[in-house]
Amino acid sequence: MSELDQRSVVGVLNHILESELAGVVRYTHYSFLVFGFGRIPIVAWLRQQADESLLHAQQAGEWITTLGAYPSLEIGPLLDSHTFDIGSILRESLEAENVALELYRELLTLVQDRSVALEEYARQMIHAEEMHAGEVDKMLRRPGALATSSGAPPA
Ligand SMILES: [Fe+2]
Repeated sequence: MSELDQRSVVGVLNHILESELAGVVRYTHYSFLVFGFGRIPIVAWLRQQADESLLHAQQAGEWITTLGAYPSLEIGPLLDSHTFDIGSILRESLEAENVALELYRELLTLVQDRSVALEEYARQMIHAEEMHAGEVDKMLRRPGALATSSGAPPA
């Protein structure tokens, strides 16, 4: 196994931590903005996403200290288009989730064949984030449609 580029790995893990923490704030914020008949299940789903982002942030933070580095206290960019429209909220969160997915892919490239545990972690997170993106994509489809109107499902 080749040697791990500790500095780059910690750099990406810190970006993941920041982006997941932004997810906690973003999903919590969105959950205050849902009105109408679908409010209860949608609020519950958004709060569940906030909890999941917090868990992901904690996992990234634990890896950073496992590698003997200091976790960032920054938070990733927070988009807010001041919308109450569920479709826009979902599209906005899908955009942010894709940024996180790219970071996990970057992590995988850095740790592949260098650390079994980190590689396993990166793969599991890519799996979780892709399933999540797929779910949001399905929520954005019109009932009966097999693809979102914005284009093909994520590759
Ligand atoms: Fe996540």
